Amino acid sequence: MKIGIIGYGSMGKMLLWKFAESGSYDKDSLLIANRTAEKLAETESIATVCSNTELAENADIIFVCLRPGDMKNVLAEIAPCIGKDSLLVTLNGSITFEMIKKVVDHKTAKVIPSVTAEINRSQTIVCYNDLVKQADKDILISLLGIIGEVIELPEEEVGMGSELVSCMPGFIAAVFDVICTAAEKHTDIPRGDIVKMVLNTMCGTGALMLDKDMSFEEVVSRVATKGGITEEGTKVIYDQFPMTAEELFNKTLEKRKITAEKAKGSFE
Ligand SMILES: NC(=O)c1ccc[n+]([C@@H]2O[C@H](COP(=O)([O-])OP(=O)(O)OC[C@H]3O[C@@H](n4cnc5c(N)ncnc54)[C@H](OP(=O)(O)O)[C@@H]3O)[C@@H](O)[C@H]2O)c1
Repeated sequence: MKIGIIGYGSMGKMLLWKFAESGSYDKDSLLIANRTAEKLAETESIATVCSNTELAENADIIFVCLRPGDMKNVLAEIAPCIGKDSLLVTLNGSITFEMIKKVVDHKTAKVIPSVTAEINRSQTIVCYNDLVKQADKDILISLLGIIGEVIELPEEEVGMGSELVSCMPGFIAAVFDVICTAAEKHTDIPRGDIVKMVLNTMCGTGALMLDKDMSFEEVVSRVATKGGITEEGTKVIYDQFPMTAEELFNKTLEKRKITAEKAKGSFE
């Protein structure tokens, strides 16, 4: 199976190197194309450098890792070259299957990874248009397994899904940045140690919940004994944080709508 990646930016680079490092794909099975060809010099030992159209002719799975503004032209360029059985994969949440169909009517999947793919811990979202067969899904899911876990969503939920996996590392980092900064005001422990303690405890809490299938309520009730110290803190969070969380999604989903309109415009 040949895997092609068009666009050697943040996402294309991550996918290419992850597939190569997995040891399952050699130089002949990994095809790479990028507008600025010089950037591909570093890929010479792991991938075969192609033009967009050569890649589309030869790859069984074609990942189009481009910004929305570049997508329409590249899809139009490769449309006549894509093999009948090949699977087209885009990485942008705002470009709908309907928009893609206007340029290339082909079996297509949408994939949204998270930055945690860097350590093979992505919770990747995938969705498909109705031309994609189960066999294609199985191949794609197994491939994406290299970078972590995969969850399938209907296309209309990809926006919220992207908030939950693609944006979430930023939200989590911002929340714990605020917590560490607040803690710093009450202690002489150096910031580096505070951050380390909070991050290890945060990762441990997530792993504990996933491993033991624990709910948030269970964790809270295990730690926050009635009338105890933790309960004072969890009360503050349950009283005051819902408004912030609500505002966060109001703002991001509103921005997502604007971005989707802009993406639609770039396809007209
Ligand atoms: N970054 C994330 O965390 C993330 C997460 C999920 C989804 N996504 C989505 O993934 C897509 C790619 O994002 P990114 O962050 O990887 O973007 P990026 O870093 O800007 O990379 C885009 C790449 O596309 C190349 N390119 C542009 N026009 C081209 C053409 N005509 N032919 C071949 N290559 C071309 C660019 O080449 P040059 O070298 O010439 O600039 C660049 O290497 C976006 O739609 C984004 O929304 C991103």
